[in-house]
Amino acid sequence: MIILSPEWTAVAYLVAAVCFILALKGLSSPKSARRGNLLGAAGALLAVVTLFLSMHLENLLLILAAILVGTVIAVPIARRVQMTQMPQLVAGFNGVGGGAAALVGILELGHAEETWVRIAIVFTMLIGAVSFSGSAVTVLKLQELITTRPITFPGLPVLMVLAVLAAIAGSVFVVLTGDLLWAVGLLGIGLIAGVLLVLPVGGADVPIVISLLNAFTGLAVAASGIVLGNVLLLVAGTLVGASGTILTMAMASAMGRSVAGIMFGAFKGGSTAGSTEVSDRPVRSSGPEDVAVELGYAQRVVIVPGYGLAVAQGQHTIVELATALEERGVKVVFGIHPVAGRMPGHMNVLLAEANAPYESLRELEEVNPEFSQTDVVLVVGANDVVNPAAKTTKGSPIYGMPILEVSDAAQVVFLKRSMRPGFAGIENELLFDPKTTLLFGDAKDSLSKVLAAVKAL
Ligand code: TAP
Repeated sequence: MIILSPEWTAVAYLVAAVCFILALKGLSSPKSARRGNLLGAAGALLAVVTLFLSMHLENLLLILAAILVGTVIAVPIARRVQMTQMPQLVAGFNGVGGGAAALVGILELGHAEETWVRIAIVFTMLIGAVSFSGSAVTVLKLQELITTRPITFPGLPVLMVLAVLAAIAGSVFVVLTGDLLWAVGLLGIGLIAGVLLVLPVGGADVPIVISLLNAFTGLAVAASGIVLGNVLLLVAGTLVGASGTILTMAMASAMGRSVAGIMFGAFKGGSTAGSTEVSDRPVRSSGPEDVAVELGYAQRVVIVPGYGLAVAQGQHTIVELATALEERGVKVVFGIHPVAGRMPGHMNVLLAEANAPYESLRELEEVNPEFSQTDVVLVVGANDVVNPAAKTTKGSPIYGMPILEVSDAAQVVFLKRSMRPGFAGIENELLFDPKTTLLFGDAKDSLSKVLAAVKAL
């Protein structure tokens, strides 16, 4: 039954599009991110409801069954997922979106007569398939179901070139003939290309590829909007494509790398991958009481959180420690590196969860000039983002990445479990610096002990 007239449908789609744009705006700051997320979800709900009310849908029961199956699978996964597994979740949802766009493309081919519609269909199918299989490989890598190291083999570049040539030839043929069998073949080529594209990327770079594939899905969905004559899909897909592209570039530049270097660096041995090599050089380690004294009698402290804080789920304890220090008259701020953790905004999300005051969060450019006037930097579960090798060691996987220049401070304290390196798999000279002390142990556990000792001062 059609309830909404075309005019009201257009108005509803316009409102949904505005919701999406405001959602992106909201997501640009931790303060408004929650509202942005809700606005985006409201826009998506409005779009789906509008669709049901504005056209006569065949197979209504099948559609409702598909929605039910999707909901039953997605809701528990989304609820249960750990914050550190968020990139996998995003990749999974994104890949399914790309796959859905590819299927829409192939289903529409049967009644697409005009050349430009067929071009849009071929684009949707290819990019959607690349996104689907590429995202599947990223999930396998991040869940460590396959190795996180870059996978390359001698024939891989040739295979990649062949896949691109086959995709071009197949696309031209499908556009000219509309042949369904060739279209299925093209889908297969897209799936293979997605796998080949992601295999050579090392674990630490995978989140950037996820963002790139996210942009691909956006483009595929935008093209499916053209195919289906649905303006809102076109708008939403374009927004995802544009924001995914901007995010990819921002992440790559925060790591001081080019997107091409990240995607194809493994062929030159330049992609990063985790290493478990442990140094046995001597370091200065201390106990929680000593750290508490250093912090408790300082005037200015900068806390640098990293991936290990997320693993240890120490965010609440770290905020409690900051509060306890503030109560003693110590000025405490958090220095947040843009790629600390394993996903964009990881540390902001983590600290927001523990209600850290927004005014105490400092971005890299803001906090770097402040280190020289800082008494103690407390580095909690972070390594690569404070590693001076990024500035000093040419050829290092992180060379060129802007870092938090914590070595400018008077004292540096690292909270980590061992001498194992960070995700880039390289040693951190700062750990051996005379001004550095290490408190070994799980971050949450160490933070609790330091907190108790600060309270007892
Ligand atoms: P990392 O360099 O990976 O260092 C994490 C540190 O946490 C390690 O030194 C580890 O040492 C320690 N750790 C792990 N679990 C711990 C626990 N339970 N308690 C205490 N310490 C623990 O992290 P980072 O400094 O946040 O840097 C992020 C890395 O990821 C960078 O290389 C970045 O380029 C990469 N990356 C990030 C992103 C985004 S968008 N965030 C995207 C792609 C790549 P122990 O094992 O000795 O404890």
